[in-house]
Amino acid sequence: MALTVELDAPTYGKYNQPIGLFINGEFVEGVDKKKFEVINPATEEVITSVCEATEKDVDIAVAAARKAFNTVWKKTATVDRGRMMLKLADLIDRDAKKLAAVESYNNGKPIALATGELQLVSACIRYYGGYADKIHGKTVDVDSDYMVYTKQEPLGVCAQIIPWNFPLLMLAWKIGPSLATGNAVILKSSEQTPLTALLVAELIVEAGFPPGVYNIISGFGKTAGAAMASHMDIDKVAFTGSTVTGRAIMKAAAASNLKKVTLELGGKSPNIVFDDADIDQAVSWVNYGMFYNQSQTCSAGTRIYVQEGIYDKFIAAFKKRVLENKVGDPAHPESFQGPQISQLQFDRIMGYIDAGKSEGAKLEIGGERHGEKGYFIKPTIFSDVGHDMKIMREEIFGPVAAVAKFKDEEDVLRMSNDSTYGLASAIHTKDLDRAIRVSNELHAGTVWVNNYNFLHAQIPFGGYKQSGIGRELGEEALNAYLQNKSVTIRIGGGLSPIN
Ligand code: NAI
Ligand code: MG
Repeated sequence: MALTVELDAPTYGKYNQPIGLFINGEFVEGVDKKKFEVINPATEEVITSVCEATEKDVDIAVAAARKAFNTVWKKTATVDRGRMMLKLADLIDRDAKKLAAVESYNNGKPIALATGELQLVSACIRYYGGYADKIHGKTVDVDSDYMVYTKQEPLGVCAQIIPWNFPLLMLAWKIGPSLATGNAVILKSSEQTPLTALLVAELIVEAGFPPGVYNIISGFGKTAGAAMASHMDIDKVAFTGSTVTGRAIMKAAAASNLKKVTLELGGKSPNIVFDDADIDQAVSWVNYGMFYNQSQTCSAGTRIYVQEGIYDKFIAAFKKRVLENKVGDPAHPESFQGPQISQLQFDRIMGYIDAGKSEGAKLEIGGERHGEKGYFIKPTIFSDVGHDMKIMREEIFGPVAAVAKFKDEEDVLRMSNDSTYGLASAIHTKDLDRAIRVSNELHAGTVWVNNYNFLHAQIPFGGYKQSGIGRELGEEALNAYLQNKSVTIRIGGGLSPIN
């Protein structure tokens, strides 16, 4: 079977797309020779089919990773590890146009957004490449009879399971800290969006990584994903996706070998606009934070709380601004909003819109399909949304904004923090004291003040409460891939205390 097909990405043209499973440094077709279809969400047409990993392929990939870890990667000089990562970052920059085009083709995100994200992808890998030779233990002075030092060692073989909303960026967030710390990895892309990860696999070979150090498989959650979560020879699983699946992964980890778990899960982030905010700026950031990436963003600012003095004015300005968002063909350079990822997600979101209407929220704009084909939904704003309505409580993962009025700081903090989630939040105000006061009280891993979605390789990101466990990005993320070893040496001999 040919493991490469020629495809035609709308904003790039013809290119060769690998479709195999990337195991032990090469593309293979998988033990059961199964395949599954990849859909273009803008047209609902099949782009191609890729090889599907089963449990057996997971076993093979884990064995390859274990062997690479023990025989080569553990012994590779840290400076060489870093050099390969920097090379990979450069190769991603070299191929950025193709990668962005394929990302847009497979995921439906507008090409302008995909192009912007590519810069974050290489920057993340480059940032962590710089860390490869800067991970140190400590010496610990206890008393003169002992010499004690700590080592920061890799965990071994790590599994990574990523979602479809940011296929390349989530891959970069996972590659960076795991390889910089010297782990070997098996990553499963989302069954919705396998294409760009396979292009990165080609670059992993070109960058010179030893075979087996980083393996990338395409496959489904219930089979390949579940096999990774419950595998007895995987030391850690890192997951990004829904809270429901995160819970299942943690259970599987607990029931198998108690592998370490980090989770980056859902959110329902409060986006708070105070009376004293600059209205134009607030509207601009609220729109961006709410609707970026078709609102398929874990940190999306979907609970929009507006103080009573500017509530009506804000709604009018917000509606006007959102109606200017260009919805349509992801290949068009000016599109801001493309299709949702799948029919399933489209149907779920339309269900939430129905719930908003039937529970009595006021539909300001949108609320229906956009166009004839593709999973497009018009940007939708509900106002006067009650605190207990479904659209105010649950993660919708689609372009449906819930706006509510608040009185004062106490009122908005009570509503903001009354959520099972705690991923992100934002405050729009000109009052610095208020910004700091409210930031201190918000139960969220990220607080943006007078901006939204500023994500950076140097800034840790992750959730309070049921939005996750552990942090990605920044120096923090390295800890999730390291384990401490304390070495205690007695100096000058001597007997034990009970002799
Ligand atoms: P999901 O969490 O089920 O899928 C994400 C990844 O997990 C995929 O790679 C999938 O194959 C894998 N997976 C699924 N079930 C698994 C299992 N039992 N064991 C191991 N791996 C498994 O997300 P899904 O179903 O695509 O979307 C449902 C909802 O999840 C969305 O509407 C949204 O609310 C949320 N979501 C949140 C994301 C985030 O960035 N926090 C990303 C994607 C979805
Ligand atoms: Mg699912």
